[in-house]
Amino acid sequence: MDDFHAVWLLCRPGFETDAGQELVALAAELGVYGFFVPSPTPGWVRFDAPGQDLVGQLVTHLNWQDLVFSRDWLMEVGRVEELPQSDRVGAVLDSLRKGSWSGCFERLEIHVPLEGAPDDLARFARKWTSPLAKSLRDTGWLSSSGAGSETNRPRLDILLPDFTQAVLCAALPGNRSPYPAGVPRLRMPAEAPSRSTLKLEEAWKLFISEERWYEVLGGGKKAVDLGAAPGGWTWQLVRQGMLVTAVDNGPMDETVMASGHVTHVREDGFTWQPKRQVDWLVCDIVDKPTRVTSMIADWLSQDLFRYAVFNLKLPMKQRWSTWEACRDELLVAMESVRRPMRLHAKQLYHDREEITCFIEPL
Ligand SMILES: C[S@@+](CC[C@H](N)C(=O)[O-])C[C@H]1O[C@@H](n2cnc3c(N)ncnc32)[C@H](O)[C@@H]1O
Repeated sequence: MDDFHAVWLLCRPGFETDAGQELVALAAELGVYGFFVPSPTPGWVRFDAPGQDLVGQLVTHLNWQDLVFSRDWLMEVGRVEELPQSDRVGAVLDSLRKGSWSGCFERLEIHVPLEGAPDDLARFARKWTSPLAKSLRDTGWLSSSGAGSETNRPRLDILLPDFTQAVLCAALPGNRSPYPAGVPRLRMPAEAPSRSTLKLEEAWKLFISEERWYEVLGGGKKAVDLGAAPGGWTWQLVRQGMLVTAVDNGPMDETVMASGHVTHVREDGFTWQPKRQVDWLVCDIVDKPTRVTSMIADWLSQDLFRYAVFNLKLPMKQRWSTWEACRDELLVAMESVRRPMRLHAKQLYHDREEITCFIEPL
């Protein structure tokens, strides 16, 4: 197996410490004792475990989906500290030749920082992609079988923090976000009443494979949306053909209500409960994460839903330990249900200070 120099975590700017702490903790459980260095680039974190087999331990036992605070992760295979203006392509090829990576990448992606990047860096990266890809293809580093096709080959992802440096990384098949750098480009549906709608769409796209969508979302299921107004999440549920109870004291969007699929209940989402089990519970109430967690745990203890998506808004400090406490409470509650269930959590691209949790039956 090829050797990697380090692992790069891509997270929401401002959450670098949380992403780093999380990988340090998970790696230690696997016997890999590493440390993280938030890079000067917001949203990028380098994890290093000198002298240890990063690949064997981390990549085989951990999946990008296990990481809550990282939207994606990349394995460093080379680094160019000084990209000469005269021959940036040559410097990348040189670095690859000198590194321990062997084999052909399926595709090339260049990432620039989401925040704080020099002016024009994104434009430069777009212009650079084509000549760089051509040279990589000519020298056998990049497959010529066609851009855009997802194969079972690693992808070459280049982190470009500025005009002078480049970190060359492998994004491994089966162990990378379906969206490069974990940034899905979702189109805001014109009819949806709020931008929040994109959070639920992203959660479904991330947590539920395409071939399972109908089984999990379709067929006229019953759903409850806690904190539903104005109705962006309800709109997504209705679009799947679900019958929705929307719980919120605030007003619901008229178009969503006109679908005839929605019953609006003006009650407290922390105390209202259905009389019998529903297929879906979703909750976008902004409140203390421990309060939302206890409410979900209560629904679990009565086996009131099959699937759930809910947000946990994390505090400014100690987000990782707050999440750990919530996770443990949820796992205990899930054990009380007599069916096996699984919990996923991720800070989505469309999330802000929150993370999104998904509970599903196994
Ligand atoms: C972020 S908004 C939800 C946006 C919604 N998901 C959408 O896509 O349009 C949070 C909502 O939670 C509601 N809310 C806050 N506390 C609540 C409670 N205790 N019970 C029910 N709704 C509550 C607010 O009225 C607000 O409409």
